[in-house]
Amino acid sequence: MILKRQLQNSEAYGANILTQNELDANLTYSNRVGKFASNSLWIKRLDAINLRVLQLPLNLTFYLEANMIRKILLLSTLCTAFLSAEVRVLVFSGSTREDSANKKLVKEAARLATQMGAKVAIIDLKDFPMPFYDRDIEEKNGQPTNASRLREMMIRSDAMIIATPEYNASVSGILKNTLDWVSRNEKGQPSRDAFKGKRIAIMSAAPGNGGAERALNHLRSIIEDIGGTVVGTQVSVPDSYNAFAPDGSLKNAQLQEKLKREIEELITP
Ligand SMILES: Cc1cc2nc3c(=O)[nH]c(=O)nc-3n(C[C@H](O)[C@H](O)[C@H](O)COP(=O)(O)O)c2cc1C
Repeated sequence: MILKRQLQNSEAYGANILTQNELDANLTYSNRVGKFASNSLWIKRLDAINLRVLQLPLNLTFYLEANMIRKILLLSTLCTAFLSAEVRVLVFSGSTREDSANKKLVKEAARLATQMGAKVAIIDLKDFPMPFYDRDIEEKNGQPTNASRLREMMIRSDAMIIATPEYNASVSGILKNTLDWVSRNEKGQPSRDAFKGKRIAIMSAAPGNGGAERALNHLRSIIEDIGGTVVGTQVSVPDSYNAFAPDGSLKNAQLQEKLKREIEELITP
């Protein structure tokens, strides 16, 4: 017996609605063919009319066309794959100093990202030395090997965490030079491939009260200009020489919480 509500549900989901007699005639032919995704989802076949019966929890039953079922199953598979896919995050600091506060900051951000299930790679720009951008060098020798290595790593990542120190109110020279090189392709043309479609979390640290916020705002506009999507939350850490606890977290609980929110925004937008 089909409830009126079930019929209305079916209609709402775009199914063909049959009369009770038509259903009775075809239900005799129905057989259960499989158990999908969850224990509570079953599919029965009504071959004669190419209709499928979807039984859901709470005794809800939908009578749907076979094509509709296929679309629902495909959609649910894609959703599951999308939600469980590991986010690959590339992490680096615009300061290469050994005891850099910005390095400590990205390390803590990377720890949080790992905790949230991301696959994280931390690199040091010191390991990617490259000349200052010069069109003559580019035309003569092409892209420096380290620039193209780094650009490839960026292309392969889904997201990035980048910190900058503040030098004379802007981002560090090494960071700007690196971003300039990776914003060009191996044919010596402008290219947004390294940042296009990537989510980026940006942050900064400095010994002064501003926490390098001016540099951070410059970094946001540079990355947006080369195609990256910078997440809304950004963290600036003032008093950077005293900001970190021995376990690597930020001593200031509010800043630590904000950093966690920023990384959540990055990993699970
Ligand atoms: C050339 C130069 C310019 C700087 N300009 C600024 C500045 O404008 N604002 C600021 O807060 N700190 C400035 N600083 C201090 C840096 O913020 C400080 O060296 C910081 O610790 C660098 O980050 P790190 O600890 O990650 O290496 C400057 C330092 C240098 C060497």
